[in-house]
Amino acid sequence: MAFCCNKPCSANSHLLGSDFWRPFKIPKLRYVKKGQYDVSRRASKVLAFFGLTTPPYKLDALEPYLSQKTLEMHWGAHHRDYVEGLNEQLKNNDPLYGYTLDELVKVTYNNGNPLIEFNNAAQVWNHDFFWESMQPGGGNMPREGVLRQIEKDFGSFTNFREKFVDAALTLFGSGWIWLVLKTKEKRLAVVKTSNAINPFLWGDIPIINLDMWEHAYYLDYKDEKGKYVNTFMNNLISWDAATVRLARAQAFVNLGEPKIPVA
Ligand SMILES: [Fe+2]
Repeated sequence: MAFCCNKPCSANSHLLGSDFWRPFKIPKLRYVKKGQYDVSRRASKVLAFFGLTTPPYKLDALEPYLSQKTLEMHWGAHHRDYVEGLNEQLKNNDPLYGYTLDELVKVTYNNGNPLIEFNNAAQVWNHDFFWESMQPGGGNMPREGVLRQIEKDFGSFTNFREKFVDAALTLFGSGWIWLVLKTKEKRLAVVKTSNAINPFLWGDIPIINLDMWEHAYYLDYKDEKGKYVNTFMNNLISWDAATVRLARAQAFVNLGEPKIPVA
């Protein structure tokens, strides 16, 4: 839950396909003197703090594939730390008050020269999205629309699955694996990003993400990353969320043939 002006407001609007991926004009912060910026324009209007978004299921609901202990640690400690760290940073950096989380990730990315708030902001976004990329009873095959698009863009569901697993197993260090809709190419793709980087920063629309930081799997799977990734694909991935996200994304990307009205 996010809080604006001390009132709760929708924290998850970015999760199901708002226009978070659209180019965002980054306002210039007026430099006053070393370490200080002119805060008069924004700080007097809105104060924003972010809350810890709760996964849309109980913490034991993904067992036996992800244990309650893992979720208590991953969500209750790591995700919480990102949220609290971000709020602590915002407390001392008034010019960043008032942005939505989507905007904050973009503005703190700072065209590839991230500000210190970027890691926490992006990790909050990525984890909010990750909890909804899984569901109890998940895995298996997507339904019609998503399946058709996957078959169109990857040749087959098996090819997509292999690509996703391979990306996860070849990621160097910590990061994320994503199924995204590429807006210019108008096709689905698998991409991997390091650390907190999110592909919406260059215009891709996230459909699914998988956390490949060690804290996501080590308690349950130790060094068996392959087992973790395959379990995600077989038993956890939320094709329901993917279906909704892809449908919403099509408000911005036409994946079909142009429709010509019949006179
Ligand atoms: Fe994580």
